Amino acid sequence: MNKQWMVCTSFAALCAAAWGIVAAALPAPSPVTFARQIAPIIYANCTACHREGETAPFSLTTYAEVKKHARHIADVTTRHVMPPWRAEKGHGDFLGERRLDETQIDQLQQWVKAGCPEGDAAVTPALPKFASGWQLGEPDLIVKMPEAYELISEGRDMYQCFVIPVKIPAGKYLESVEFRPGNRRIVHHAVLTTLKHGMANWMLTAGGGKSFSSGLVAPGDRLPGSLGLWTPGYEPRPLPPGYAMEWPTESDLVLQLHLHPSGKPEFEQSSVGLHLTSEKPHGKLKSMVMLDKNVDIKAGDGNYEVDKSMTLKAPVDVYGIFPHMHLLGHTVKVTATLPDGSSRPMIAIGDWDFNWQNYYQYAMPFRLPAGTRLEAHWSFDNSASNPANPSQPPRRVTFGEQTTNEMAALILDVIPVEK
Ligand code: HEC
Repeated sequence: MNKQWMVCTSFAALCAAAWGIVAAALPAPSPVTFARQIAPIIYANCTACHREGETAPFSLTTYAEVKKHARHIADVTTRHVMPPWRAEKGHGDFLGERRLDETQIDQLQQWVKAGCPEGDAAVTPALPKFASGWQLGEPDLIVKMPEAYELISEGRDMYQCFVIPVKIPAGKYLESVEFRPGNRRIVHHAVLTTLKHGMANWMLTAGGGKSFSSGLVAPGDRLPGSLGLWTPGYEPRPLPPGYAMEWPTESDLVLQLHLHPSGKPEFEQSSVGLHLTSEKPHGKLKSMVMLDKNVDIKAGDGNYEVDKSMTLKAPVDVYGIFPHMHLLGHTVKVTATLPDGSSRPMIAIGDWDFNWQNYYQYAMPFRLPAGTRLEAHWSFDNSASNPANPSQPPRRVTFGEQTTNEMAALILDVIPVEK
């Protein structure tokens, strides 16, 4: 036996011995179980949507249900597809963030690798109590689509608009809105706007009397902040304190529903709960729009980029942001550069998904002084390898309202600062 080998083996023996001591000193790692680690993760982050009567296609409310989908769960959480929340950490703090941390994602992986042990069922936490009915409590006013709309069973998604008369008593202001679809299988998302009676009637008549179809852009003025948009799993929340909305005179509420046929005839009759306050708002909320109308993407271009910037002429308090692209959208990033040279990340989405676009309300409104430069960067993927590309082979895509057109847009919701 040569000398070197002896050194090696004795070194290995030494290591093994040392490791034995360390291992003996450490408690054996306890396996990840449903009862201890997995149920708390799922119940807190998934079950709000994954339960009977909600939007997700299957329930995650018991050990058996979670086990049945375990592989799929480990996969979608690792890829950050679920829970659906596209805004990246470190680029703005938002209300209602839905995100798993790396430890939780890792525990889901370990659990699946270990064969999904249940553990001690007695320590499984109880399911959280989810509000059935109105999440913000009984609304002051409940309005409904005048009649149920019958959606054809087959065909393409559509944008259909419904007009609902709303009478807000004098001296009352709109604080929050809770949208409730009648049939979650077919309502993909909803945009809420106001439209003058005359215009609304004209559009209804043109559409055959009961509703009318529209492109992606809903007619009228979007309700401010998060009041103007509903997406599956959305948690309704009020406007910033002291800032309610004054209902415009002689105007109706318009619901623009993005509907997708389910394969069988379906009916939809949504309702909207309105929460009112008598506190006169301190001022008006404003929306600032950044939009590029020159989008023109060559067929096959996998990285088409758009940059746009603007400089604030007056100070504002920012409370919400709504980035918008269509199916080819890939990334969006917005940064504010303040007059003192410091910069503030506003939002970043690295993996845009048209179906999971969201309104993002900041955890705390923050001030941007006059002279702040806002820079937005969007990118698009019009290659054949983008699974969301509606055209195979890809076609040239230009700016427009249809889902098959593109848009580089951004709404920034602000409170103008009083001088
Ligand atoms: C905001 C609501 C919402 C939340 C929260 C949510 N899901 Fe989902 N989930 C959905 C909807 C809607 C679908 C079906 C549409 C889709 O696949 O995009 C879905 C689909 C899935 C799928 C199937 C995906 C596929 O590709 O077929 C899995 C697996 C899943 N969710 C797991 C989870 C897990 C695990 C969590 C929590 C960590 C979670 N979801 C949180 C709404 C939600």
